[in-house]
Amino acid sequence: MSSVHLADGHQCHLVTPIAVVAVGLVERRTSYAITTSVPSGHARCLMLAAVLITRLAPTVSSPACARECFTELDVTFANRPRLPSWQFLSMDFSMLATCSFGPHWRTLRRVAAVQLLSTHRVSCMSGVISGEVHAMVRRLYRSATASPRIQLKQRLFELSLSVLMEPIANTKATRSEADADTDMSVEAQEFRKVMDDINPHVGLANLWEYLPVMRWLDVSGIKNKLRAAVTRRDAFLQRLIDAERRKLDDGGSEDWGKSMIAVMFTLQKKEPNVYTDTMIRGLCTSLFSAGTDTILADIEWTMSLLLNHPAALKMAHAEIDRCVGTSRLVSAEDLTRLTYLQCIIRETLRLYPAAPLLLLHQSYADCKIGGHTIPSGTMLIVNVYAIHRDSNMWEDPMKFRPERFEWDLVDSVEVDMTEGGEEFVIHKAVPFEALCKPRADMYDVLKRL
Ligand code: HEM
Repeated sequence: MSSVHLADGHQCHLVTPIAVVAVGLVERRTSYAITTSVPSGHARCLMLAAVLITRLAPTVSSPACARECFTELDVTFANRPRLPSWQFLSMDFSMLATCSFGPHWRTLRRVAAVQLLSTHRVSCMSGVISGEVHAMVRRLYRSATASPRIQLKQRLFELSLSVLMEPIANTKATRSEADADTDMSVEAQEFRKVMDDINPHVGLANLWEYLPVMRWLDVSGIKNKLRAAVTRRDAFLQRLIDAERRKLDDGGSEDWGKSMIAVMFTLQKKEPNVYTDTMIRGLCTSLFSAGTDTILADIEWTMSLLLNHPAALKMAHAEIDRCVGTSRLVSAEDLTRLTYLQCIIRETLRLYPAAPLLLLHQSYADCKIGGHTIPSGTMLIVNVYAIHRDSNMWEDPMKFRPERFEWDLVDSVEVDMTEGGEEFVIHKAVPFEALCKPRADMYDVLKRL
């Protein structure tokens, strides 16, 4: 392993695969990159061997190096590795999260940022979000009345998918009258099944990705499983697109112009060769896939942490009682005032980042990270999980302490009180700096200023 000590005292592990294995075995925080992403036992050893033989994959686990990768080197690492599973899943690497840097990459990001996920469009989603939250709470309440033991995961998946369904495709999740209180709608069940069939075969975790012989033999039939799941996924999405197109042909409903698919049709009309149905399917897939499991995982972790930390739960309740009261549910508009709740979410994302290794990146030119030369075509693993639990950065990193995100000393260093200069007025030698967070109780006053 080659490592470099940075000016701020943090160590940057820039490691070759051999070192990844070595470090992974001895150092828990770095081992996350390996241990969570590979199966246990023999399969793990084989997996490590496969990565060793086939990949040069530096693991960045220092904030300074990560910053370098996503600032000066952002474009250099804009490519994604061409993993075989991604080829199936992302229409030959043509989708937003998997395509290589170039004109198509730029078009997709521009469309996503300007047309689909602009602040205005996201703010338009708040009505849908609150409607779906109400529906979920109603179902939850009814189920709990019958039997208090609740499995939250399916309900959260349903919630996150439904929240996206209407803005993307202008359609609501459907359930028959008899199934009105079931965990998941027909669409959610179908999409969940597709994701459950895809997820175990994707990413860093599979020998199949690294050993061509495994792909040729395809003993466990992964290729066919992925192909079948992708066919079902694409059929599901094409149905949404066709339904939206029919509405256009029928003159469009009052709501028609608002869906993301409808926005894409407007672009398609002007440049049909660029904004194809395949591109629309790809964008829908990206949003559905990126926006469901992430949100579901984050809420599940948050709820789990709160139940295991009753004091924090009590403070969250007190804040909601104070700011919202008990006569209605919390709404999106309340969030700016619920500062402790925001701290809880930040602390949860710190301890359990939804994508602990981010998405894999790959360099398209030679570059240097932390002084180390990294050749073009190198796969980059950013170990966010390790960074978030680094004791050099966080006091008691393993503890759930939402308060750490409130007004606080910078790096826990007491404010410097040195008197400076020979001037008439005594100034501080070091200008005052702190982590600023308005007090929740003062928010109304501050807003009126
Ligand atoms: C708790 C919620 C979420 C978390 C923690 C999260 C986290 C992430 C992370 C870590 C990445 C990878 C960045 C990289 O390494 O390049 C990513 C990518 C992405 N996310 Fe999210 N995400 C969340 C919700 C959403 C939602 C709701 C959407 C849209 C509906 C979304 C859309 C995307 C897209 C399109 C990408 C690919 C971006 C690219 O390749 O440039 N995410 N997200």
